[in-house]
Amino acid sequence: MYQLVLVRHGQSTWNKENRFTGWKDVPLSERGLDEAKKAGQMLKAKGIEFDTVFTSVLRRAIITSNNILEEMDLSWLPVQRNYRLNERHYGGLQGLDKSETAAKHGEEQVLIWRRSFDTPPPAMSVDDPEHPCNDPRYAGLDARALPNAESLKCTIDRVLPYWHDAIAPALKAGKKPLVVAHGNSLRALVKYLENYSDEAIMGINIPTGMPLLYTLDENFQVVSSEYVGDPEEVAKLMAEVAAQGKAK
Ligand code: 3PG
Repeated sequence: MYQLVLVRHGQSTWNKENRFTGWKDVPLSERGLDEAKKAGQMLKAKGIEFDTVFTSVLRRAIITSNNILEEMDLSWLPVQRNYRLNERHYGGLQGLDKSETAAKHGEEQVLIWRRSFDTPPPAMSVDDPEHPCNDPRYAGLDARALPNAESLKCTIDRVLPYWHDAIAPALKAGKKPLVVAHGNSLRALVKYLENYSDEAIMGINIPTGMPLLYTLDENFQVVSSEYVGDPEEVAKLMAEVAAQGKAK
C-alpha cells in the first residue's frame, strides 16, 4: 500500500479578493498562512510521516509546504518544485473578480470556465506582460509548453506526465510524498486517481489548506481517501470555493 497526501495551498490574497489567479504568483493571506500551519499540526497529530515533497513553482504552494514542514519538524526534507503542478492557467480571466465576471457573462458561463472538462477560459495575449514567456522561472521550457489559457483537460495533460515521471516512481520506491499544489492541478490528479467522469469532476471543489490523505494499492487504485480535518469545516471550505463564481 502507498500513502499519498495532497494539499491545496492555504487561502491566497487573490482567493480572499475573489480574483481568478491561475499562474499569477500571489502570496498567502494571513488566513492562508494559518491554514498552512494548522495543516502541519493536524498531519503531525495524526502521525502522518513524509520523506519527500513536491510543489509547484508558485509561492502560495511553496510557502504552504514550508509551513507544513516547519510544524512537523521536517523543514530539512528534499523538495522538488515543478511548473507541471502549477494551477490551471486562467488566461485572460487572471486578475478579474469572479463575481463581477459572473455578473457580466452569467454564472453558467463562469461555472463552465471554472469547472468544465475541456472548455478553456479566454486566452491571454502573448503580448501580455504577464504571459509566462516573460517569467524567468519558465525560461528553460519550450515556449510551446507555455499556456495562454488552460481547460481542465489541458491541465491534466500537463500534470499527469509529472505523476508518471516523478510522483508515482517515488511511491514505488517506498517514499511517502507530500504534494502541495492548487485547486485545479489537484482536481486534475484527483480525476485521474478516482477515475471521475468528465461530468462528475465538475462537482469537485478542493478546499484550501486541508490535507487529502490517500491510501493506494500496488496498482495505484484508491483504497481509501479522506480529508484530514473536521468534516464540517471541509464542507464549509468546499462550499466557499464553489460560491466564488456567484454574481453578487
Ligand atoms: C484560481 O486560480 O483562481 C484559484 O486558485 C482556483 O480558482 P477556481 O476555484 O475558480 O478554479
